[in-house]
Amino acid sequence: MKYPVWELNIRPLFRPLDRRHMLFKFDLYNYQNVKDFADRIADRTAFDMPTFDRGGPWPTEWVDMFNRWAKGGADPKVGPPPFARLDLATGTYTAVRDTTNRDLVTVTASVVRPSPRSEIWFQEDEDASSPFSYVLYLFKGTDKPRDIPTDVEEVIPIPVSVTSITMRAADGTKVVKIT
Ligand code: HEM
Repeated sequence: MKYPVWELNIRPLFRPLDRRHMLFKFDLYNYQNVKDFADRIADRTAFDMPTFDRGGPWPTEWVDMFNRWAKGGADPKVGPPPFARLDLATGTYTAVRDTTNRDLVTVTASVVRPSPRSEIWFQEDEDASSPFSYVLYLFKGTDKPRDIPTDVEEVIPIPVSVTSITMRAADGTKVVKIT
């Protein structure tokens, strides 16, 4: 069964407004903070958080998913682990501006998937402070390891005035020049 992970299913439950109002206590965009306060977050989102004058508490499905994320699988050997999150991958990158439509850039990450059921992709990095920042995620499969070289590609609208992007990955954050 598909299990919830922080980056894909839990972090998007929090609005900028929630984060701003709760910063006096913890940072709802911070994995470790949400993990540390998970019991209280589960209690309060089922009851009175977000506050009633700002949209009100979560539907039970969201609270259930949050709890499922916090608890993990019944058997930790089989998984999923409690507080599951994605891994970062490593890759080499190119960013090439389209010759006909100058507003489009094809960004390619050459990666090695560690098994057939593992997936690697990149997406906008919500934790980055500057625009045109991306993060290279790895969702590790539990199948038998086998290296699979793969090119992951996204065609992204990036204004002509922008000359580089950044990619956050397991080996750090790299600046990739747009050619
Ligand atoms: C999903 C969003 C939110 C979550 C998970 C959340 C969670 C919590 C938790 C766990 C506490 C108790 C902290 C403690 O242990 O001391 C708390 C308290 C508080 N929260 Fe939130 N909150 C959310 C959204 C908001 C919003 C939108 C507001 C204001 C508009 C707000 C205002 C407060 C205030 C004033 C307190 C302290 C008073 C109290 O405990 O009732 N929260 N919240």
